[in-house]
Amino acid sequence: MNHLHCRTAWPLALILCALAASIGGCRDDDGDDGVAQDASSSGADTTDGGGDVPRFWQDVAPIYYEQCVGCHRAGGVAPFVLDDYATAKIWANASATAVAQRTMPPWLATDDGTCGSFVGSRALPESSIDTIVAWADGGAPEGTVRDDLVLPEVDRLEDAVELESPAFAPVAVGTDDAATDEYRCFVLDPAVGPDAVMTGYEVVPGNDALVHHVLVFDLDPTLVVQGGQTNAEVLAALDAASPDREGWPCFGAAGDGTEPSGVPVSWAPGQGVTRYPAGTGYRIPEGSVLVAQIHYNLASVAGDAPPVRTTVRARFTDAVEREGFFDLPDPFLDSLFEGEPAVLAPGEEAVEYTWELAVDDLLGGVLPGLELHGVLPHMHGYGRSLRFDVVHADGSEQCGIDVPRWDFDWQLYYFYAEPIRLGPGDRVRVTCTYDTRKATAAVLPGWGTGNEMCLLGAFMVPVTE
Ligand code: HEC
Repeated sequence: MNHLHCRTAWPLALILCALAASIGGCRDDDGDDGVAQDASSSGADTTDGGGDVPRFWQDVAPIYYEQCVGCHRAGGVAPFVLDDYATAKIWANASATAVAQRTMPPWLATDDGTCGSFVGSRALPESSIDTIVAWADGGAPEGTVRDDLVLPEVDRLEDAVELESPAFAPVAVGTDDAATDEYRCFVLDPAVGPDAVMTGYEVVPGNDALVHHVLVFDLDPTLVVQGGQTNAEVLAALDAASPDREGWPCFGAAGDGTEPSGVPVSWAPGQGVTRYPAGTGYRIPEGSVLVAQIHYNLASVAGDAPPVRTTVRARFTDAVEREGFFDLPDPFLDSLFEGEPAVLAPGEEAVEYTWELAVDDLLGGVLPGLELHGVLPHMHGYGRSLRFDVVHADGSEQCGIDVPRWDFDWQLYYFYAEPIRLGPGDRVRVTCTYDTRKATAAVLPGWGTGNEMCLLGAFMVPVTE
């Protein structure tokens, strides 16, 4: 697939991709999902007589200013700008392909009314996609220059506390599945003081080109985990294994064998500020350890990477109306500790794994219900699609999130416009699909790059009536 190839190593590959695209070589013409082709053929109709071709400043720029330039601007996280006609024209075909395949803007959840409705959704309406495709197919005309479009203000989190990673110089690990990457975990400094309720966060990566995602877990250091050790003992052993470098290797969570309580921060470039739903927050108990998992991608770095210090800016308060909690259910991963672990057959284009959990297990016979406010779909490199449904006690089903094209680089938490109510007798069902054609042996669950997960992080708030 040309398209995937175009994304692997920017900026060089992107420049080549743009050049190829400008001569028509970067479109996905194998029609494997039909989207690009349908869209471009409808675009072709509008070129009849030439008069109907959308123009950059009149038709496309308003979409770009709203949906793209938050990242594709001078100093933004994307490798080229889209607020300037000359550059946008060079990228016209690549942009048409990216929007038609819904790989840009980065937003993995289907959002066309068939499954959930999300806060801050970046999914483009079909009509915007048609406009961009028709513009590219029609030769990307400029139209009449205008200067009334303004770049959106950069949002900052007010009253934030800064939690820092050490300055760390990542190196490419060099294995097949992490050829140009390093995944490293660090304890954040300073430790969060007495009980504090987190209500929002943003991340200052320190180096936009290197830092691909950041997850922050909170752990109870005294919790006894698999093998009879405490979280603190497991963390100390992980840290001690590489005394010459800060932190420890980790991929799926806070490090092999640790058991986090929650994942209050999940961040990918361009995300901006995340504020938890109004009136809610997440209590981090006194004594908790905050561990950041940072994914460094070194594809764009020639030679040694410079040290990078990443800052998590978090907002805390003493109390909120309704405290929520993060859960990290993954029965696929749990099967590792249950005798025969579940495995994924190698060499197959689509291997499915489905799990179900009873909501009653979360209610503990005490709570009348829960409001599900947000979800974090999470798989590794073999992951292909993920779908979550609620099977209500009355048998009706409600789609919670549908990720048709998983992309590990975009670890996003999706908050609902309206929370999903979970009550007694309801069940949560998650189906993960993997492409294991590159695997030579059965794929085991686990936290490593070569292992898989089928996790659905969930932010929930108890309801009292
Ligand atoms: C949240 C930030 C963000 C937004 C919003 C965004 N992009 Fe991107 N875009 C990126 C980054 C970062 C890259 C570099 C490749 C990568 O990491 O995926 C990129 C790469 C691209 C590429 C190169 C090829 C590819 O698909 O990777 C195209 C084309 C593109 N973006 C078009 C767009 C268009 C058009 C929009 C708006 C409709 C848009 N992008 C919105 C961040 C963003």
